[in-house]
Amino acid sequence: MPKNSTIFVCAECGATSPRWLGRCPSCGKFNTMAEEAVKQEKSAPSSRPSVYSAPRATKLKDVRFERYDRTPSGISEFDTVLGGGIVAGSLVLLGGDPGIGKSTLLTQIAAHLSLNNRVLYFSAEESCSQVKMRAERLKLECEDFMIVNDTCIDNLENELDGVKFCIIDSIQAVYTDDLTSSAGSVGQVRECATKLMRIAKSRGITFFIVGHVTKEGALAGPKVLEHIMDTVLYFEGENQENYRILRAVKNRFGNVSEVGVFEMTGEGIIAVTDYSGIFLSESRGQEAGCAVTPAQTGNRCMNVEVQALVSKSSFGQPRRMPLGIDYNKLVLLIAVLEKRCSVPLWSSDVYINVMGGIKLNEPACDLAVCAALASAQCDVPIDKYTAVFGEVGLTGEVRAVSYAEKRVQECVKMGFKRVILPAKNMKSVAKYADKISIVPVLYVNSMIKMLFKNEN
Ligand SMILES: Nc1ncnc2c1ncn2[C@@H]1O[C@H](COP(=O)(O)OP(=O)(O)OP(=O)(O)O)[C@@H](O)[C@H]1O
Ligand SMILES: [Mg+2]
Repeated sequence: MPKNSTIFVCAECGATSPRWLGRCPSCGKFNTMAEEAVKQEKSAPSSRPSVYSAPRATKLKDVRFERYDRTPSGISEFDTVLGGGIVAGSLVLLGGDPGIGKSTLLTQIAAHLSLNNRVLYFSAEESCSQVKMRAERLKLECEDFMIVNDTCIDNLENELDGVKFCIIDSIQAVYTDDLTSSAGSVGQVRECATKLMRIAKSRGITFFIVGHVTKEGALAGPKVLEHIMDTVLYFEGENQENYRILRAVKNRFGNVSEVGVFEMTGEGIIAVTDYSGIFLSESRGQEAGCAVTPAQTGNRCMNVEVQALVSKSSFGQPRRMPLGIDYNKLVLLIAVLEKRCSVPLWSSDVYINVMGGIKLNEPACDLAVCAALASAQCDVPIDKYTAVFGEVGLTGEVRAVSYAEKRVQECVKMGFKRVILPAKNMKSVAKYADKISIVPVLYVNSMIKMLFKNEN
């Protein structure tokens, strides 16, 4: 007879303890241990296949090389983010704000996959007719698109005959009978995800799992949820705006810095292949505080606009509010501008926004942030056809960055007339001198003097 007992699970890190603790010994957070009921299995080893009883270690050189079988999803940008297509037997977690379009994206992909494969949509949040209504609105062809409306994950195995792809919408809405806690609790989410992993690996079924995010924007549930997954994707964007960005934060089969750009339309989600102008504003060149930088995200380079606003602070402590770049990076660049370039910002509130919800976390965007800040401070717009890139050091020097050639190429393609870049990158891009005016700089100060030479 399986015996029921309880364990205590940390809601932050998923660590377990046989008794309640005020402070989690693993992550150190207070008051995060929650009780979970577990059915103890008879004995773990006996449930394993007998092949595990023989020694299994082999030499690495003798391991048979298996190429990942990748299936196109029908949406090119989605394939790019996955690293070139859907890998059979993988677990893909798709997180995102409510109403951002997670179900829409996965319904579209499921419909495309169903033309050649059997696909199961395990809908725990919406009824079958709701999903059908959506599919009709999106005018989807769904050949072998199977749907079931259920919330108990234990019933899933019966439905999986012949299924190659399965969508779970969502992991927070499903539960397993093995635990008595309610759906969406830490234990349930972890247990359900582990069950799905076992099915995926043993039967070669690919699972797309929808995950909710918390108020802070992180995936809801224990951190182990992300460890179990092969790929973790975030679907981001402003609800009011039509552009959506799909970003991989973990990928066992590809590059994580890859992003996909989508547009939400009445006919569903469409991949944006010509993303060249969408991260640039109309007011560029007329308003102060805008600077354009060719940013490298994954394998692609795109011109992104950084906007800065500098206003007089009404409080003792001036505000620094960056959107799209790191807070500490902004504070550091402000200090460099103050000290090395005499741009007075100590008594001003500073706001930074990167257009289109893109996140710039590479050092090459430093110089553009400095240019935007200086432009906002002296209230002089930067020329519309000027792009800037380079890393800024604490001494105020402009350091060389990677992919300089690709960045200049992108600026040429986009019709920019001048590009300001680190002097040390000059050699690799000299060949573009007849197509674009290349301005090398050694120090931030020299860039500022050049851009705003007639100003104080
Ligand atoms: N009739 C419609 N016409 C156009 N767009 C629609 C229509 N109905 C819904 N949408 C769009 O679809 C979005 C909702 O998409 P979806 O249900 O896929 O989101 P979700 O991320 O799955 O949300 P949830 O977290 O609630 O499950 C809405 O925000 C809206 O922009
Ligand atoms: Mg949904």
